[in-house]
Amino acid sequence: MKKILITGGAGFIGSHVVRLFVNNYPDTQIYNLDVLTYAGNLENLKDIEAKPNYTFLKADITDEDLITKLFVEYQFDGVVHLAAESHVDRSIADPLAFIKTNILGTVNLLNAARSIWKDNMDDKRFYHISTDEVYGSLGETGLFIETTSYDPRSPYSSSKASSDHLVRAYYHTYGLPVVISNCSNNYGPNQFPEKLIPLAINNIKNNKPIPIYGKGENIRDWLYVIDHAVAIDLIYREGKLGETYNIGGINEWTNIDLIHKLCEVMDDKLDREKGESAKLITYVKDRAGHDMRYAIDSSKLMNELGWEPSLQFEEGIVKTVDWYLANEEWNNNILSGDYEKYYKEQYEKR
Ligand code: NAD
Ligand code: DAU
Repeated sequence: MKKILITGGAGFIGSHVVRLFVNNYPDTQIYNLDVLTYAGNLENLKDIEAKPNYTFLKADITDEDLITKLFVEYQFDGVVHLAAESHVDRSIADPLAFIKTNILGTVNLLNAARSIWKDNMDDKRFYHISTDEVYGSLGETGLFIETTSYDPRSPYSSSKASSDHLVRAYYHTYGLPVVISNCSNNYGPNQFPEKLIPLAINNIKNNKPIPIYGKGENIRDWLYVIDHAVAIDLIYREGKLGETYNIGGINEWTNIDLIHKLCEVMDDKLDREKGESAKLITYVKDRAGHDMRYAIDSSKLMNELGWEPSLQFEEGIVKTVDWYLANEEWNNNILSGDYEKYYKEQYEKR
């Protein structure tokens, strides 16, 4: 039986990837390795946790000895690496945590894979999941392509850029069979409510201010999380070794327009008068070094592997709101004392 290791599988995107792999590959054992930080939540995987081809491994990718031991014990055939510190604002407050997990953690996985695969790399694959933020910030025009020069500008994106470089270095230097993808902003069920869309949904529901950084003119390219998971599955199976694939939603929104759209959906779902939720919009101090615009050209993935986003944003945002409103318990479990403390520190002084 083939064995695939997915790291960060208890997080937002990782949980959708684990579910897809467990369901699509009943004859492959899927190992979900996660240390369960504040962002990791096994409740995300309740529906598949009893499947015979699913195993959870609680481990920290920064623990070199443990990672080496697990690779020797389980002899994974493939790795899909998503574990990371993922929130830009947290990286501004505590860069070192990002350096440790995103850079050192990735190197530990690369070394462990290299050591168990060194005599035979056939059919092996190390797939590193990265972000469009490594390319920096766009002006009004243009799109990120796979050969756009790296220009990361936050501690988060710098740590992801470093890990991308190291993954490529292991391909060129040691012949490790790697593939990388860089995706735009994801949204959908199970996203931790520190990120813009679920944070705004919660605040609208609870009649709290919706914090908009700066003038709300920054632009992001939004992709429904399941479309990202489908792209990951495709690239894992068919992506060319040593290559990078960009993944995006062809769906650019300024933050303020996106929040207005979300407010309309929330008014409808909560039976509020039109315009009521939008009254909660509150402009706050901008994020330090706030990247202006991200937008991805996914032509390579679309033309070479035949991927395309399946959902229009108008449909995806309604599905997302429906999920959050129907899953109050999931939400309440997450809104622990720790989250309240983070929220106070992050927003009280803005
Ligand atoms: P997330 O924060 O929701 O989940 C991260 C997961 O990694 C959590 O389950 C956490 O417990 C785990 N983790 C963190 N540190 C760990 C460690 N030291 N050892 C083991 N596990 C650890 O993140 P996400 O939004 O699902 O992002 C997943 C990946 O996709 C990241 O690599 C991120 O850079 C990338 N990405 C995210 C987006 C996005 O919009 N969210 C877009 C493009 C790329
Ligand atoms: O582009 C891919 C990246 O998208 C991923 O690599 C990151 O892991 C993911 O967190 C996301 O980064 P962003 O910084 O773009 O996402 P976030 O949801 O934090 O913010 C989206 C936009 O909304 C950004 O311009 C900042 C703004 N914002 C965010 C928050 C949390 C606000 O205006 N108010 C807020 O309270």
